[in-house]
Amino acid sequence: MNSAKFLTMAPQSRPPSRMAPLGMLLGLLMAFCFTFCLSRQNEEFALTNPEKSSTKETERTETKAEEELDTEVLEVFHPTHEWQALGPGQAVPAGSHVRLNLQTGAKEVKLQYEDKFRNNLKGLKKGKRLDVNTNTYTSQDLKDALAKFKEGAEMESSKEDKARQAEVKRLFRPIEELKKDFDELNVVIETDMQIMVRLINKFNSSSSSLEEKIAALFDLEYYVHQMDNAQDLLSFGGLQVVINGLNSTEPAVKEYAAFVLGAAFSSNPRVQVEAVEGGALQKLLVILATEQPLAVKKKVLFALCSLLRHFPYAQQQFLKLGGLQVLRSLVQEKGTDVLAVRVVTLLYDLVTEKMFAEEEAELTQDTSPEKLQQYRRVHLLPGLREQGWCAITAHLLALPGHDAREKVLHTLGALLATCRDHYRQDPSLGRTLASLQAEYQALASAELQDGEDEGYFRDLLGSVESLLRELR
Ligand SMILES: *[C@@H]1O[C@H](CO)[C@@H](O)[C@H](O)[C@H]1NC(C)=O
Ligand SMILES: *[C@@H]1O[C@H](CO)[C@@H](O)[C@H](O)[C@H]1NC(C)=O
Repeated sequence: MNSAKFLTMAPQSRPPSRMAPLGMLLGLLMAFCFTFCLSRQNEEFALTNPEKSSTKETERTETKAEEELDTEVLEVFHPTHEWQALGPGQAVPAGSHVRLNLQTGAKEVKLQYEDKFRNNLKGLKKGKRLDVNTNTYTSQDLKDALAKFKEGAEMESSKEDKARQAEVKRLFRPIEELKKDFDELNVVIETDMQIMVRLINKFNSSSSSLEEKIAALFDLEYYVHQMDNAQDLLSFGGLQVVINGLNSTEPAVKEYAAFVLGAAFSSNPRVQVEAVEGGALQKLLVILATEQPLAVKKKVLFALCSLLRHFPYAQQQFLKLGGLQVLRSLVQEKGTDVLAVRVVTLLYDLVTEKMFAEEEAELTQDTSPEKLQQYRRVHLLPGLREQGWCAITAHLLALPGHDAREKVLHTLGALLATCRDHYRQDPSLGRTLASLQAEYQALASAELQDGEDEGYFRDLLGSVESLLRELR
């Protein structure tokens, strides 16, 4: 599939004496990359500014402090068609394109599959606005608009093609010629696959120090964000090595193994299947159920979420293995509010995921799609009710912080059908909701006075009020 093998120099294989021809080298690399990327339409360059970039690659590792990594491990990044900087530890959905911007040292992401039509639509919209908010256009209007978009799309794409061809001619050099240049410079060029093999060997070797092992995992995490790379990791047994890393007695090894796994699982079904078969689920749950540093639990929870999302089979196994009990103890531990919020978010995602599967099946009139059958075997809601999650979720609304409350509010909404009676009979939930209503009324009106049209507090207020209505 989309195996954009961005060529990367092995960081260690660049002794200082070879720094001089770096400018030239990067120029070459850029051209080299270009020949690779050409065959693949809209690929952009990983190397952006040859002059300034020479030191950035090595800086990358240093600039990402571990502390920074801990903050938002669970966040899933939503790429658009523009390059956007990826925060440390953010998970990237399948089909995203990740690159390292050597100018800024940041990881950047965008959607991999560029829908040409959509792109052109975006371009054209600037000139000819089609106001989709007013419901006044007729179907004929839409057809006309569509025809115009298509016209424009054709025009634009032929212009683009010409420009690209000119660029090709200017930069194209035969691969053999480039390779010779690289050989003369004595530079080692590695593909992503080779790098991953090297990192796994480093991690798996008994002669590596703890520090080297962690560094290997840390670097590996960068590569497995790309869907193809994560699948390649399977092909040579690398994934199992990382899964076994969860058994390490060293907390840091557990932590970073989970960090790699979370990135590799992210919306990557093949990897998710292999991981469940490789025993990843049990290992992750064992770590969460035992005494561990918070940093370890955070990343392990991240990996667990990544493994469960959009994978009903893993969700079934999770329930069978007593996953809900493990999460319950986690939420009830002291000083783990940050974990509690993430757990609640996971539950929300799992509940809504199943709902969407049902809705989708209904819409497509598909009576027994395999996916839906899988989801129907996930008996999540009864499990949640039996194990006291109605009370736990209601109680979590008392957490400070608007973001935490927002997530709890959404989860309460998703659990309404299951927990309604419980919520109605919970006087402290009623009180909390009433006080949140007052708080958010004030904040929402202040927001309105500031001229904010995207009202964050107005939305929160909306969630609070709709719950109040439902529980009346
Ligand atoms: C990891 O090391 C073990 C034993 O040291 C070895 O049997 C195994 O093949 C190695 N795995 C990989 C993928 O290199
Ligand atoms: C890893 O630990 C689990 C228990 O936590 C144990 O059942 C399993 O055998 C161990 N696996 C390896 C490869 O050491």
